[in-house]
Amino acid sequence: MGELITLDYTSPAMVRRLQRVHQELIIKAFKSKVVPILRIIDATAGYGVDGLLLAQAGYQVTLIEKRPAVAKALQTSHQAGLLHPDTQAACQRMTCLLADSFDYLSTCDQVDAIYLDPMFSTQEKNRLGPRKMQLIHQTLEDTETENYAGLLALAQKKAKHWVVVKRPRKAPPIGEMKPHSQILGRTIRFDRYIPLT
Ligand SMILES: C[S@@+](CC[C@H](N)C(=O)[O-])C[C@H]1O[C@@H](n2cnc3c(N)ncnc32)[C@H](O)[C@@H]1O
Repeated sequence: MGELITLDYTSPAMVRRLQRVHQELIIKAFKSKVVPILRIIDATAGYGVDGLLLAQAGYQVTLIEKRPAVAKALQTSHQAGLLHPDTQAACQRMTCLLADSFDYLSTCDQVDAIYLDPMFSTQEKNRLGPRKMQLIHQTLEDTETENYAGLLALAQKKAKHWVVVKRPRKAPPIGEMKPHSQILGRTIRFDRYIPLT
């Protein structure tokens, strides 16, 4: 295992983002006027930035990360966030677990919504600066090998209301599975799927 790289949830830039969380596209993607969304599973947690944004918006978020080095970094950032006044409340709504989401989702109870953020596409990687590239380095290896279409299908069985998938704006949907609706940003989009009943 290499050097542990963590993200500082309490950095001024992150805190500014948290203060304006309702402008974040991801929050718009989970919003629903018709169904109550309280609990979300972030099944591809990574360093937990998206999970933290969701928690800041008031959701209870369970973050699942399968790579031990990344899960350790996630838990370290989370612990530090619990001690800081600007991030404490959000971090208290987060539970960070080391697990494979195929296993976790197979055995857990149904949850209001599930979030998937697959690996960055080559196009997206090229747009990232060196610092961010360093941060995500440990998560890149399985870009091509993870069965995200399978994970999406499983998530559709476990979500009561939504499965939300982050994609580069121009990338095809996961496994060519047509979403129910899309929230479009400048470089990314969120594909929303309804449950399979
Ligand atoms: C693009 S990163 C997610 C970034 C994250 N949304 C953030 O804001 O930091 C995808 C992460 O999903 C994890 N992952 C992929 N498949 C997984 C699975 N089956 N179970 C749990 N984690 C998984 C990878 O190890 C990687 O860390």
